[in-house]
Amino acid sequence: MKLAPSILSCDPLDWREAVVQMSEAGVDWIHLDVMDGQFVPPITFGDAVAAALCRSVKTPLEAHLMTLTPERHFEAFVRAGCRRVIFQVESTAHSHRLVQEIQRAGAEAGVAINPGTPVEAVRPLLQDIDLVLVMTVNPGWGGQEMIRSCLEKVREVRKWSPGVEIEVDGGVDPLTAPRLLEAGATTLVTGSFLVSSGTIAERIAELREACGSKL
Ligand code: DX5
Ligand code: ZN
Repeated sequence: MKLAPSILSCDPLDWREAVVQMSEAGVDWIHLDVMDGQFVPPITFGDAVAAALCRSVKTPLEAHLMTLTPERHFEAFVRAGCRRVIFQVESTAHSHRLVQEIQRAGAEAGVAINPGTPVEAVRPLLQDIDLVLVMTVNPGWGGQEMIRSCLEKVREVRKWSPGVEIEVDGGVDPLTAPRLLEAGATTLVTGSFLVSSGTIAERIAELREACGSKL
């Protein structure tokens, strides 16, 4: 079981400090939410910020591209040092080709799927991708409640592929995390919970404890 905290809800002027704290807490990945103001309304940051954060820690960083044209900029994030690039299956007509291109560029390839997209959309890709990211909220903002029906999607993907890495993103906290793991998720993204009180290290410890120290 792996933990991939997101910086999205942290103060942007403290992002470097946030990734250092996450790294010191021993997380497996750090999750970067890249939004282009088109696929989703907010705009977050681009490859220059990703590169600065990648340089700050040894922990691998992954870019979650909530963008309309992932083909146009995935390479910049690989060059920035991101070890995994995840794009939204809804954002391209050629998802399989994009998986190949990301892997050829030297990164792991992940495919994210929105709550409203039938889970069958990722099935043909399962053999070739490194990870499925099941969105458990509608992308765009941190701090939303997990959409319960998405648990069923996780179970479905797990049934199709006993070995695939399944990441979940949205509304992950000490109450929802154990249920997501039980459904078959292997990597948890968490954002707003990390800044809900105290320190990032304390919140990570709380999440780990809620999951029976499996993270
Ligand atoms: C949502 C992003 C998430 C977000 C999760 O659009 O993809 O990664 O940061 O935040 P929480 O944990 O607050 O739902
Ligand atoms: Zn995300």
